[in-house]
Amino acid sequence: MSSTRFDPSGPLRGSLRPPSDKSISHRAALIAAMGEGETTIEGYLDAADTRSTLAAVEAVGVRVEGSPEEGLRIEGVGLRGAGPATIDVGNAGTLLRLLPGWLAGQVGESWILDGDESIRRRPVDRIALPLRQMGARLSAREDRLPPLEIEGAPLTGITCEMPIASAQVKSCLLFAGLLAEGETRVVEPLPSRDHTERMLAAAGASIARDGDVVVVRPAERLEPGPISVPADISSAAFFIVAASLVGGSEVTLEEVNVNPTRTGLLAILERMGAAIAREDETEVGGEPIARLRVRSAPLRATEVGGAEIPLAIDELPLVALAACFAEGTTVIRDAEELRRKESDRIETVTAALRALGGKVEATADGMVVEGSGGLRGGATESHGDHRIAMLGAVAGLASTEGVEVRGMDAAAVSYPGFEADLAALLRS
Ligand code: S3P
Repeated sequence: MSSTRFDPSGPLRGSLRPPSDKSISHRAALIAAMGEGETTIEGYLDAADTRSTLAAVEAVGVRVEGSPEEGLRIEGVGLRGAGPATIDVGNAGTLLRLLPGWLAGQVGESWILDGDESIRRRPVDRIALPLRQMGARLSAREDRLPPLEIEGAPLTGITCEMPIASAQVKSCLLFAGLLAEGETRVVEPLPSRDHTERMLAAAGASIARDGDVVVVRPAERLEPGPISVPADISSAAFFIVAASLVGGSEVTLEEVNVNPTRTGLLAILERMGAAIAREDETEVGGEPIARLRVRSAPLRATEVGGAEIPLAIDELPLVALAACFAEGTTVIRDAEELRRKESDRIETVTAALRALGGKVEATADGMVVEGSGGLRGGATESHGDHRIAMLGAVAGLASTEGVEVRGMDAAAVSYPGFEADLAALLRS
């Protein structure tokens, strides 16, 4: 297992474009696979998770040419043309939840989805239950865990009142709705990321939002057109927090996706006193992007819960880290979903920050963090979770004694160039 030391650093300075968005890249490959003819994708994320998605679409018969750096050309098999396969989703929870939505309605074929040790602990009942209501034939280990077997069957549209806010479940049902008879209505308890809705609309699907309901109608064909993927705010987040915490820092992050369903971290940090400016807001491929300029600033505690949770779900570990440096006690609640991510992030974040001297208590649905003027340092363990590995690195830069991160290689799931980009910001 790789072990890397992150020493207390001087200011972070300079400019970079964070890697491309993981959520949008997964969807780009899947929607291109469902499409008719060739779809080009510019700026596809080159990381372990999104390579799993390319391998998955190839396994069902889709031709993938080019490369993430030079541009991908994907020759879709059409909405009903996926061939049978055993698919390794690796560590990618998004692929595990989205792909079955497309496959479930393709009559006459069958598929098995499995993945790594972490994926085998990620629940699939959240998609299996509503898909079965639509007529899908699925079976899973203990009825809720991978491997997941899918036998294509005719589907009928339903109204699904989702018990949890999950963009993955929503997207799965929207894909299934494309192949179902009649209308499929997905009711969200709270808004979650809406990349699927934007991309399906751009590909010509009949999809509309009516309050908290997303309605999709069956489609004969999708024509995605060229897709361009902006930079990932969830990867930018590590530098946003690092620059906020390390005195004298000023970092500029280019072309960052600022879709309002993804910017919860910015709102939370701004409330804590962070100095984040958005410049040059524009649109790329139907998604808003901006340049983010972040300067270090003293932080104060805040409360995070309710509708803000899905908008910042992957960044909540960083909120807990920032809270160790803030004045006062920060409370994160309504975030039980953190327990079902690549690791149980309530436990792994609490353990990591406590090991570094933080005053953090885990609760059933979040964390309570008492600002302690910073972190001493020590050692953390990634538990194979990319975001927990990079959290340890940022903690190290801002700590007084440095942090040894065990299992740093997990970062490659979403951000293979993380250490090189960090080094560049520390050199500038
Ligand atoms: C994702 C949605 C979120 C997020 C995950 C990516 C997506 O999961 O945590 O990293 O691409 O749809 P849930 O929607 O299940 O909360």
